[in-house]
Amino acid sequence: MKALYYIINGPNLNMLGIREPEHYGSESYEALVEMLKNRANELGVELVIYQSNHEGDLVDKIQEAYRNGAKGIVINPAAYTHTSIAILDAVKSVGIPTVEVHISKVEEREDFRQVSYVRAAAIKTITGHGLTGYIEALEHLCSL
Ligand code: DQA
Repeated sequence: MKALYYIINGPNLNMLGIREPEHYGSESYEALVEMLKNRANELGVELVIYQSNHEGDLVDKIQEAYRNGAKGIVINPAAYTHTSIAILDAVKSVGIPTVEVHISKVEEREDFRQVSYVRAAAIKTITGHGLTGYIEALEHLCSL
């Protein structure tokens, strides 16, 4: 059986390519999904790729990853990065190695983006590498 990894994206990431291209680039969410599927095939791993605009749905997906025996989680909680203790607690609850990804360089943006709750539970954080950051995160998890 192939090792299973979850890719979890928070609010507005379905709007990639449309929303604020100066921060998030011109590639669509579908292009991100395609890129991840191709790399997963090369790595010989299975992916569940999920996006939601709703905090509780993201918590449910993290718990699903646990029930399904996922080996790792790549998460971009988007705006919930800066507000959600529920997502932090979910990642802590499942104990699955988790990499936090941000497409933009959040550390060079507004003050309110300088807090990341999920970071306390993440084994690694990748910011500002665009969509490639997701691939780097997956590769890191696969190398553990
Ligand atoms: C983001 C950065 C967040 O501050 C923002 O709310 C997002 C996307 C990123 O990928 O750079 O929606 O997580």
